[in-house]
Amino acid sequence: MPLHHFRQIIQDLPANPGAEILRYGWRKPDIISLGQGEGCASTPNFIIKAANQAMLEGKTHYGPVLGQPALRQEITEYYQRIFDVDLPQNRVFITGSGTTAMHLALTSILDKDDEVVAITPIWKNLLGAVKITQARTIQVPLHYEDGKEWSLDMDQLFDACTSKTKAILIVTPSNPTGWVMSKEEMRTLMNFSREKGIWIVSDEVYSRTLYNELHAPSFLEVAEPEDLLLTINSFSKSWAMTGWRLGWLTGPAFAENVIRDIALYDNMGPPTFTQLGAISALREGETFIQEQLNDWSRNLDVITERFDANSKIHTYRPPATFYSFFKVDGEDDSLKFAKKLIDETGLSLAPGCAFGNDVKSWMRLCFAVSENKLNEALDRLEEVIE
Ligand SMILES: Cc1ncc(COP(=O)(O)O)c(C=O)c1O
Repeated sequence: MPLHHFRQIIQDLPANPGAEILRYGWRKPDIISLGQGEGCASTPNFIIKAANQAMLEGKTHYGPVLGQPALRQEITEYYQRIFDVDLPQNRVFITGSGTTAMHLALTSILDKDDEVVAITPIWKNLLGAVKITQARTIQVPLHYEDGKEWSLDMDQLFDACTSKTKAILIVTPSNPTGWVMSKEEMRTLMNFSREKGIWIVSDEVYSRTLYNELHAPSFLEVAEPEDLLLTINSFSKSWAMTGWRLGWLTGPAFAENVIRDIALYDNMGPPTFTQLGAISALREGETFIQEQLNDWSRNLDVITERFDANSKIHTYRPPATFYSFFKVDGEDDSLKFAKKLIDETGLSLAPGCAFGNDVKSWMRLCFAVSENKLNEALDRLEEVIE
């Protein structure tokens, strides 16, 4: 392909090994794909009905660039109800997916050659999105010790920041490790952000996927209204709406016009009728969220039991998300191992190298599938490991 016709930055974009592996396994017969991050449940009917109704009522026209006021209001009520946080409507911006929220956040603050300090391992798209802005990413890895939870060395994070640092990028709960930043760590980091004038960009897409709590801590709980904080969120995971492409961004009120301007030039705002479905998701979705978590939790028990019984597998039971992140003795190259799993047993998993420099021997498995499918996948994995 004659890449030289495109922008230099596009030519320099690193390959996405997760997407490569998905394509690699795509057409293989009898493939079990646990490489992508989504639950197997379809969107619940009450959400679909609300969107259908909106379409039938003619809500098929252009809408406000930052989203329907009714949904922006519903999100403020959601934060009040679930997080006990006051977040006025003018700090909530509806976007056509969490991914779009991420792009709006990053393109609104990053200039060429700015530095972004990212806590890794991290969802690869965030690194790609930083690259497209022509900023540079500095990776600060979480630490793992066998059998212990992932942890962050706060001093290491602070030391990685320089006068060029424009933002600190965090995914909490983390895709792929399930690590959850504590409220205390958030408070410390928010103070640091205030002192240095550095933005915090917090991807909180998995904030409702905790197994023992109603929600994960949010930076919104420790922030002041004018703090340099952007949070990214999505309807994809907790409300089973991946195909709807709907999310939201929160920021300080002074960001509203900036985000509106960029969104206007980008896609002129999210679809109209899907937002009316999303209002129902927030109003009536709590039972569904809990039911999904119950299913995922049973699967997590299955994985934990089977991985614990296998001395070649190293992992930590995640407190949140639907990912198991693990490494296997003797398999140091995750891309090679991912291809081997597809070739030898028809199992597709995401290779750790997609998530950062320090986890190239790790693998990510999405366990939000039926228990049967999960057991079959684990049988196949063990077959290759033995
Ligand atoms: C951390 C994180 N942020 C954002 C997204 C994307 O969400 P959406 O489907 O709303 O684009 C994902 C999807 O896997 C994710 O893992």
